[in-house]
Amino acid sequence: MAGDILVEMRGISKRFPGVLANDRVSLSVRAGEVHALLGENGAGKTTLMSILSGLYRPDGGEILVEGRPVVFRSPRDAIRAGIGMVHQHFRLVEPFTVAENVTLGLDRPRFALHLAAVEQEVARLGDRHGLKVDPRAQIWQLSVGEQQRVEILKMLYRGARVLIMDEPTAVLTPQEARDLFTVLRQMAAAGRAVVFISHKLQEVMEVADRITVLRAGRNVATLEKAATSARELARLMVGREVSVSYQRTRQAGQEVLLCLEGVEAMGDRGFLALRGLSLRVHAGEIVGVAGVSGNGQRELAEVISGLRPTLRGSIRVGDTEVTGCHPARLIACGLSLVPEDRLGTGLVPTLTVCDNAILKCYRHPPVSRGPFLRRGEIRRRTRVLVEEFAVKVPGLDAPVRKLSGGNLQRLLLAREISARPRVMVAVHPTRGLDVGATAGVHRLLLEQRDEGAAILLISEDLDEILALSDRVVVLYEGRIVGEMPAAQASREEIGLMMAGIELPKDAGGGGQA
Ligand SMILES: Nc1ncnc2c1ncn2[C@@H]1O[C@H](COP(=O)(O)OP(=O)(O)OP(=O)(O)O)[C@@H](O)[C@H]1O
Ligand SMILES: [Mg+2]
Repeated sequence: MAGDILVEMRGISKRFPGVLANDRVSLSVRAGEVHALLGENGAGKTTLMSILSGLYRPDGGEILVEGRPVVFRSPRDAIRAGIGMVHQHFRLVEPFTVAENVTLGLDRPRFALHLAAVEQEVARLGDRHGLKVDPRAQIWQLSVGEQQRVEILKMLYRGARVLIMDEPTAVLTPQEARDLFTVLRQMAAAGRAVVFISHKLQEVMEVADRITVLRAGRNVATLEKAATSARELARLMVGREVSVSYQRTRQAGQEVLLCLEGVEAMGDRGFLALRGLSLRVHAGEIVGVAGVSGNGQRELAEVISGLRPTLRGSIRVGDTEVTGCHPARLIACGLSLVPEDRLGTGLVPTLTVCDNAILKCYRHPPVSRGPFLRRGEIRRRTRVLVEEFAVKVPGLDAPVRKLSGGNLQRLLLAREISARPRVMVAVHPTRGLDVGATAGVHRLLLEQRDEGAAILLISEDLDEILALSDRVVVLYEGRIVGEMPAAQASREEIGLMMAGIELPKDAGGGGQA
């Protein structure tokens, strides 16, 4: 029945080398509710839910399912008890179909399953829960949003009554996120329970019934949504008031440090993703690129940083023509990239914190001497970086895949910024970060700008673009369709241009710098 306690966690603790990730956390989940788990990066959210879903064993405390104590040795045990988790990084097998993925890892041997029957059941579940996806499509053909639906269907197929979603909106567009919220609300209304991990206050206020705030591994509060506010939640989450005011210390210069003219490039799907794009960024200036994702953002970042061929047009960094240059040469020209996928292009998950910190300078003294790496020097530099940028790491020799999302991003920024770039391309630099970490990253970018760097900020977050940029350009179908000083930009105008609606010339659109 709605309101019944489905799951109770009592005094759960979990220690990793060097950190107490969960410190005697208690939490109950009721049938019929969306329960948000809110907390800063590294607060212990993923760890706590990985324990509930059988991935980790707790060091202390107990779990009760419908009043009975249980011990989960694996995610299989948890799912048998009706608890399923959709992780931040999906675990689907690309060449397999949706229905095949749904059956992967089931107890029943695969030959005993009739694929056609599974396909039917998946379609039925999809219809019932508003999770539209073709059961016969192969995973690689699906958008990220659709892949997420497959992960949810997988859990529903296994009979999950408690569905745990780890930062599900981090990979979604605002529209997809809204659709997902509708699905989650419906599931709760049908008597299931949803645990929704997030550090975005607005989302939590939108979708949750109750909210548990974790801070530094502890449960600091569990509140009814109706009885709290975004402001109170922010304070509970970070333990202090958060403000993001910043005074600029120097005006933008005249010198053009990054210049693109008529750039064309192919996208992954085999058609033109950039279609004659022109753009300039001056020294000491942040130019924000607004746009709905999929309009060429990724390709733009990739052509500038030499990761994707330029078909036509030219790219200059300062006075140097860099069109078609190798990434290594671009780094030498003073270009740095904060890429979208931190654990793909940005960092190497299996390498240590130290090795990742020197990835871009290991060929040069003082990090290396001749063919030899100087370990002592590397450790010294890394320690300085980690301290200066307040990156929380389990140790300098820990593989970076053990860092929380926020700390991965900090490490990446620390490395890129410490190289003192002249031109910086930042793609969704705060995606997945909490308010505290976001403020930290914003401060770092603004400081870089004041130091005279030219920064191209590509982001889906209009608030972020308006808060940081000196100038805003709008990207639509591979072209810049509008441009305005940030101080005069209106949200409505930008929104319209993002949707491809052209504004009359005198309304602020059009033109180039
Ligand atoms: N497998 C692991 N080995 C070692 N330390 C870990 C491991 N997983 C998490 N940690 C550490 O435990 C702490 C809590 O991490 P957790 O991933 O639970 O945080 P989170 O609240 O989910 O953060 P984020 O919002 O960044 O995802 C962090 O300090 C993290 O570095
Ligand atoms: Mg997490």
